[in-house]
Amino acid sequence: MVRIGVLVSGSGSNLQSIMDACERGEIDGTVAVVISNDPDAYALTRARSKSVPVASIPHRDYPDRESFDRELVRVLHEYQADLVALAGFMRVLTPWFLQQFPARVINIHPALLPSFPGLHVRQKAIDHGVRISGCTVHFVDAGVDTGPIIIQAAVPVYPEDTEEELKDRILALEHRIYPKAISLFAQGRLRVEGRKVFIRGMSRDGTPCLVNPPLDV
Ligand code: GRF
Repeated sequence: MVRIGVLVSGSGSNLQSIMDACERGEIDGTVAVVISNDPDAYALTRARSKSVPVASIPHRDYPDRESFDRELVRVLHEYQADLVALAGFMRVLTPWFLQQFPARVINIHPALLPSFPGLHVRQKAIDHGVRISGCTVHFVDAGVDTGPIIIQAAVPVYPEDTEEELKDRILALEHRIYPKAISLFAQGRLRVEGRKVFIRGMSRDGTPCLVNPPLDV
């Protein structure tokens, strides 16, 4: 059973989907602790309402990134987390942090990486005029949104979309693929080789094709 430490900064809807999936038995694991760098993050309320332990570690209380990261690691070890899931966590982790959890830190990003890394990516996708965007769960490496990709899901993008509309469309899929990625990790089915993630026992059947606009437009 995997013990998940979830790092958050905001609303925590992905955290919610992970806690719910654990509760339903879809992940062979449990959320061991939720840590926020923002004491007011709604994610902490979500965790408390499920009686999941929480810690708030305001990054401004620390002189530099590494001392902040050291406190994160201390708390993660205290709760014996063996997987770290970033869920809307708005801080970049140091290489030192990543060394403490090799191939054990994952993140969800609201675009189809490597397109649109970084911030404000839904608006960037709309402004670029892409027809398809989506979300990506990936292992975290020293870069920003650059690590090996575990799972991606695609949604159509329409030229008249608002950022909010695209956000909701992508978020609905985030809530499905993040628990799935964690479940695969918990089952020990992920193997990373260089940039690629191989999934043991994965079937290629049933992967639909998304065409936008549809061919019969
Ligand atoms: C999500 O869009 C996620 O992809 C990004 O930050 C957002 C977090 O949303 N990394 P929530 O806090 O899980 O609702």
